[in-house]
Amino acid sequence: MSKVITSKSQLDFTLQDLAPMDKPGKMFLVRPTYFTVDYVINPHMEGNIGKVDKIKAMQQWESVRDAFAQSAVEIHEVQGAPKLPDMVFCANQSLPFIGDNGNREVIMSIMNSEHRKREVPLIEEWYLEQGYQTHHLNYKQISNFEGAGDALWHSGKRLLWGGYGFRTSIGAYDFISDTYKVPVIALKLNHPEFYHLDTCFCVLNETTALYYPGAFDQDGIELIRSMFETLIEVPESEALNQFACNAACPDGKLVVLQQGATETNKKLREAGFDVVEVETSEFLKSGGSVFCMKMMAW
Ligand code: ARG
Repeated sequence: MSKVITSKSQLDFTLQDLAPMDKPGKMFLVRPTYFTVDYVINPHMEGNIGKVDKIKAMQQWESVRDAFAQSAVEIHEVQGAPKLPDMVFCANQSLPFIGDNGNREVIMSIMNSEHRKREVPLIEEWYLEQGYQTHHLNYKQISNFEGAGDALWHSGKRLLWGGYGFRTSIGAYDFISDTYKVPVIALKLNHPEFYHLDTCFCVLNETTALYYPGAFDQDGIELIRSMFETLIEVPESEALNQFACNAACPDGKLVVLQQGATETNKKLREAGFDVVEVETSEFLKSGGSVFCMKMMAW
């Protein structure tokens, strides 16, 4: 039976009540050989068609990969494909999962934009090689779901945070909740600049998250506040210009963050995290940064 929660009054569990989930030990990234800005499907891409410096982009991507290599996760590289400039944002095409008996499963996305739909079967190949069981949403019932761009695991727990409104329809979460047997806390996204949940919310470890409150409605803010002991608020300018909420913390300790998010960096260090700064300016032109340039898996 599915459980999708949209307001605090529907919360009938605390973090302690939730079963543990193994933390992912693998990560894959897609080499940005074909990355560019060729079309506009989010406000950050406006004015950036043809403006990507490809050599710089490759160097930046390599430095992001090397920063991730400092955490204790196994890194895999997937090749990109011609005419799929956004495939590098490999948080978007899938949502992997591990069951309590160690079974590894993945729900493949239904990309919102026609431009990105062909990325999904290419990413699916990686999961099949790894021995995952794959699931597909019924596209007759669900129009869109953009994987771990919108659906974020609560670190170490069988709980999913699900953004909806721009790239994902809330109906996708019934199927996901049912398939993975986990509750989903659904958060409505209201601002086109924050079109994916990973642009305004980042789970760092079991008790700590980064967020930009301005991207959520009151229900969303209350839900986030009721599940985390420590919330690090990102200032608006850093959320918008440095995509500071699109940071990533693969091992619960090391945070990889876009350069120039000074205030966020300081707050993270004060909260006990190690921070590595990277430059992702070429990818920011496409509306993406650190978090969405990788996928965590098992
Ligand atoms: N240009 C890409 C798009 O609009 C960027 C995706 C970034 N991904 C993310 N999870 N925020 O689809």
